[in-house]
Amino acid sequence: MTTTRTLADGREIPVLGLGVWQVRDGRECADSVRWALEAGYRHIDTAQAYGNEDSVGRALRDSGVPRDEVYITTKFNPGRKDPVAELDGSLERLGVEFVDLYLVHWPAGGPTRAWDGMQKAQRSGQARSIGVSNFGTGDIDAVLAVADIPPALNQIQFSPFEYRRDLREHCESRNIAVEAYSPLGTGRHLDDKEVAAIAERQGRTPAQILIRWSLQRGLIVLPKSTHQDRIAQNAEVFDFELTGDELAALDALDRTGGTGRALERTWW
Ligand code: A2P
Repeated sequence: MTTTRTLADGREIPVLGLGVWQVRDGRECADSVRWALEAGYRHIDTAQAYGNEDSVGRALRDSGVPRDEVYITTKFNPGRKDPVAELDGSLERLGVEFVDLYLVHWPAGGPTRAWDGMQKAQRSGQARSIGVSNFGTGDIDAVLAVADIPPALNQIQFSPFEYRRDLREHCESRNIAVEAYSPLGTGRHLDDKEVAAIAERQGRTPAQILIRWSLQRGLIVLPKSTHQDRIAQNAEVFDFELTGDELAALDALDRTGGTGRALERTWW
C-alpha cells in the first residue's frame, strides 16, 4: 500500500506510519497497531517515553505479519544515560532483535550528548538506522560536526500550521530526511475552514488532506489514531493529489514564519 523512500544510509522507510504517542499501553495500543497492520501499514513509531513498546511488540507478534516486513522506530529517552543500554530494554519489550530506526527523542543535555551511544547502537546492528527528533537547525549542525555516522532523519512537529520550511530545507540539503509527527495538530487542525474546503472539493476527509500535504511536501508522515475506521482512512492517501493552488493555500496556514526551530516551546 505505502510507498517507500531511501534514506541517506541506503535503508528504505515506508513514507506513512502509525504514531502511538499518547496511546495507552495495553489493549488500546495493541488494537491500534493490529488495525494498522490489517489496513496495510508497515511502519509503527513508538518511543521509550511512551511506555507502550510492550503492546506494540505483542500486536506485531499476534498479527502474523513477518518481522522483516514491518518498519519499527523507537526513541532513546534522553533523560537516561546510555542509548545502548536503553535500546536493550526496548528490544526486550518489543520482542525483536533490532529496530529499524532509533532516534534521540529530544536534545536533552545538548544535541551531541547521546550521539556517541547512538552510533554504537547502529554499529552493534541493534539499530539499522539512527537519527534525531525535535532538533532545530543549530542542533543538527552540532551533531553533524561530531558525527562519524550522520543522522539519517529528523522527526519533528510538522503540518501546514507548523510549516517549518527552513528546518525542512536545512535537513534535506544535508541528506537528512524529515518526518512529521502531529500532522493533524493532534486533531486541532481538522476543523479548519480552509482544510475543510479543500477536503470537500477533493471528496476526501480533512485528515487525508493534511496527511497528503505532508507527503507532497516531501515528508514521511505519522498520523495517530486509536479508531479502526480512522486508521484505515488515514492510509488512503496514495490515490489522489493536491493541486498547486491547494498546496499553496495550505502552506499559507503556517503560523511559525517558516522557522528553523523544532518547537516554539520546549519541554526540556
Ligand atoms: P483518535 O485517536 O481518537 O482517533 P495527530 O496525528 O496530529 O497526533 O492527531 C491525532 C488526533 O487526531 C487524535 O486525537 C485522533 O483521534 C485524531 N484523528 C486521527 N485521525 C483522524 C481522522 N481520520 N478523523 C478524525 N480524527 C482523527
